[in-house]
Amino acid sequence: MSCSSTHLIFSLLLLSVAATLSPTQATDHIVGANRGWNPGINYTLWANNQTFYVGDLISFRYTKNQYNVFEVNQTGYDNCTTEGAVGNWSSGKDFITLNESKRYYFICGNGQCYNGMKVSVLVHPLPSPPPGAASAAGLSPTGSAAPEFPQRGFVVLVVSFAVTWFGGGWIM
Ligand SMILES: *[C@@H]1O[C@H](CO)[C@@H](O)[C@H](O)[C@H]1NC(C)=O
Ligand SMILES: *[C@@H]1O[C@H](CO)[C@@H](O)[C@H](O)[C@H]1NC(C)=O
Ligand SMILES: *[C@@H]1O[C@H](CO)[C@@H](O)[C@H](O)[C@H]1NC(C)=O
Ligand SMILES: *[C@@H]1O[C@H](CO)[C@@H](O)[C@H](O)[C@H]1NC(C)=O
Ligand SMILES: *[C@@H]1O[C@H](CO)[C@@H](O)[C@H](O)[C@H]1NC(C)=O
Ligand SMILES: *[C@@H]1O[C@H](CO)[C@@H](O)[C@H](O)[C@H]1NC(C)=O
Repeated sequence: MSCSSTHLIFSLLLLSVAATLSPTQATDHIVGANRGWNPGINYTLWANNQTFYVGDLISFRYTKNQYNVFEVNQTGYDNCTTEGAVGNWSSGKDFITLNESKRYYFICGNGQCYNGMKVSVLVHPLPSPPPGAASAAGLSPTGSAAPEFPQRGFVVLVVSFAVTWFGGGWIM
C-alpha cells in the first residue's frame, strides 16, 4: 500500500472519529455575552436567545468582590432572596455545569438582583442523535456518558490503523 493512501485512510478515520464525538460537545454560555454579569441588563432577553442542553456550561464573568452568583429556587429568583440557596460562586469567572434537564435560577446575592442581576435558564435533554450514532457517540438512552463506548471506539481506531499499516493481509 502506498504511503499516500495510508495517509488518506488514516485521515478519514480521524475525521469519522471527530464526527462521532462532536454531538457530545458542550457549549459554554457566557451570561450577558460581552456585557458579562452586571446590573441593568435584561438577562431574560439573553437567555431567550440561547438553547441550553444537559452538559452545557453557564459561565458568569464579573468584577470579583463586587458581585457574586447564587443558585436559588423559583421563590429566590422571584423575590431576590438567597435563603436555601443550592450553591454560590464568587471567583469572578465562575463555570457551572448544567447537568440536569430542568429550569435553573441564578441571582446576584448582594442586592443587585433588584437591578436585573437574575437569570433563569431552561435546560433541555440532549437531542436524540441520528439513528446509529447513539452508540458511536458514547450515549446511553438517558443521555449520560457511557464510558465503555469511547474505549471501544479507540480499539476500532487502533485495529483499523493496524489493518491500514500492515495492508490487512494478517487479518482479512
Ligand atoms: C426583559 O425582557 C422581557 C422580554 O421582552 C420582558 O418580558 C421583561 O419584562 C424584561 N424585564 C425587565 C426587567 O425589563
Ligand atoms: C442573539 O444571537 C444573535 C446571534 O448569536 C446575536 O447576533 C444577537 O445580538 C443576539 N441577540 C440578543 C438580544 O442577545
Ligand atoms: C415570594 O414570591 C412568591 C412567588 O414566587 C410570592 O408568592 C411570595 O409572596 C413572595 N414572598 C415574599 C416574602 O416576598
Ligand atoms: C425555595 O426555598 C425556600 C427556602 O428553602 C422555601 O421556603 C421555598 O418554599 C422554596 N420554593 C420553591 C418554589 O421550591
Ligand atoms: C456558600 O456555599 C458554601 C458551600 O459551598 C457554604 O458553606 C456557604 O454557607 C454559602 N454561603 C452563603 C452565603 O450561602
Ligand atoms: C450535578 O452536579 C452536581 C455538582 O457538580 C452534583 O452534585 C450532582 O449530583 C449532579 N447531578 C447529576 C444529575 O449528575
